[in-house]
Amino acid sequence: MTTYQFPQGFLWGSATAAYQIEGAAHEDGRRDSIWDVFCREPGTVAGGDDGSVACDHYHRMPTDVAMMAELGLQSYRFSTSWSRVRPDDAEFNPKGLDFYSRLVDELLGHGITPWVTLYHWDLPAALQAKGGWTNRDTAYRFVEYAEAMHGAIGDRVDVWTTLNEPWCSSFLSYACGEHAPGHADRTEGLHAGHHLLLAHGLATARLRELAPSATLGITLNHTVPDPVDPSSETDQEAARRIDGIFNRFFLDPIFRGSYPEDVLRDIAGLGLDEVVKPGDLELIAAPIDVLGVNYYHGSAVTGTPSSDYAPAVLPDGRVRGNPNIGSEWVTFQPRDLPVTDQGWEIQPEGLTRLLVRLHEEYTGPAGVALYVTENGAAMPDLVDENGFVDDQDRVSFVRDHLIAVHDAIEKGVDVRGYFVWSLMDNFEWAWGYDKRFGIVRVDYATQKRTPKASALFFRDAARDNAVEG
Ligand code: NOJ
Repeated sequence: MTTYQFPQGFLWGSATAAYQIEGAAHEDGRRDSIWDVFCREPGTVAGGDDGSVACDHYHRMPTDVAMMAELGLQSYRFSTSWSRVRPDDAEFNPKGLDFYSRLVDELLGHGITPWVTLYHWDLPAALQAKGGWTNRDTAYRFVEYAEAMHGAIGDRVDVWTTLNEPWCSSFLSYACGEHAPGHADRTEGLHAGHHLLLAHGLATARLRELAPSATLGITLNHTVPDPVDPSSETDQEAARRIDGIFNRFFLDPIFRGSYPEDVLRDIAGLGLDEVVKPGDLELIAAPIDVLGVNYYHGSAVTGTPSSDYAPAVLPDGRVRGNPNIGSEWVTFQPRDLPVTDQGWEIQPEGLTRLLVRLHEEYTGPAGVALYVTENGAAMPDLVDENGFVDDQDRVSFVRDHLIAVHDAIEKGVDVRGYFVWSLMDNFEWAWGYDKRFGIVRVDYATQKRTPKASALFFRDAARDNAVEG
């Protein structure tokens, strides 16, 4: 048994997102986001689920925060809901702003550091009616929303991240259609991706003006693509392409002020240049302080190069595309690895490699700190008669990934914290409520919260600033 001791000051937290937990979808002035609309379309979300009630966190916020304190969480990463704060793209909603102000007070009252994400995918439906993220104007609307959030809670919040996983809110949402608004158009995906990056850069610069000493950043999702056959040139090319469109499409503009040349070649003719205006890339490269890393699994890639591509038409007429824009021929091949309840491969060493690579190529040279802002697993939880889940599978997952983070730190990587996804079971987007990521069990019939074995494990790890393994 080895004790993996983390550096002093390493931050232990958990994360959630507004639409996944809040519910109260039409209360106190909140109006539809694209996810409310998307969930109403038949066949989009497993079980026909939606976020209208979710974990009812909007009404249970004080007791949820008390629970976080009991679990010894030092920080709480949450998102603010644009459609609660500025419904209908009209006036700002004082009740919406007040909810987040009360949440921040409650957190600080319990000694928990708030970590704000401004956009975790719930775009106001009124903005989608004007094109959503394919419309450049949405980026400027985002800045207004960021300013309003800063006005409401900026006196008490130090850490601000602009976007969560823009790969999902562009390519998975506008090019693939698996996420709201459910479009399957490659050009729309690229336009959305650029405008999201622009929104990030503009809001970062504005927040820097408003709060020069604040800690600013963004959270990206990453994969670690490995060629199925490392000696095959085609598989190496597949890995390069997935790394390009998944990771570097977002990292390079933020850290280097340019889109990667090879990715521009892969997506040539698909219309990115239609929306990139002079000066945009300088804006996107606004200096940041932290990079949030979301990591769930890597991928083994192969394929047969081809330029043919057509989105798939599902039996009910919906169209589904491929988020790997311009590289649709690349296929993902399962490996001989254990998987989670969603079939995602469990590959902790991928996290070490990812952190080392980010540190060497992007964050280290820029003096930017890394935080793991999401890592966790949906597992087939078994509930006993007391509502307790002895989720040793999730305990192992989290422990092994924490050790992977520790390995990266030992290799000299500046990783300063880890947020487990998620604080509690919640609405897992297109997968509905069936997939449970929480370290706390939610009984949706009663809304009772019961910490699982993983919550107790995480509490002890945070207390000791160490894990055993
Ligand atoms: C990333 C997303 O940010 C989060 O909303 C989601 O629930 C987790 N991945 C798990 O899929």
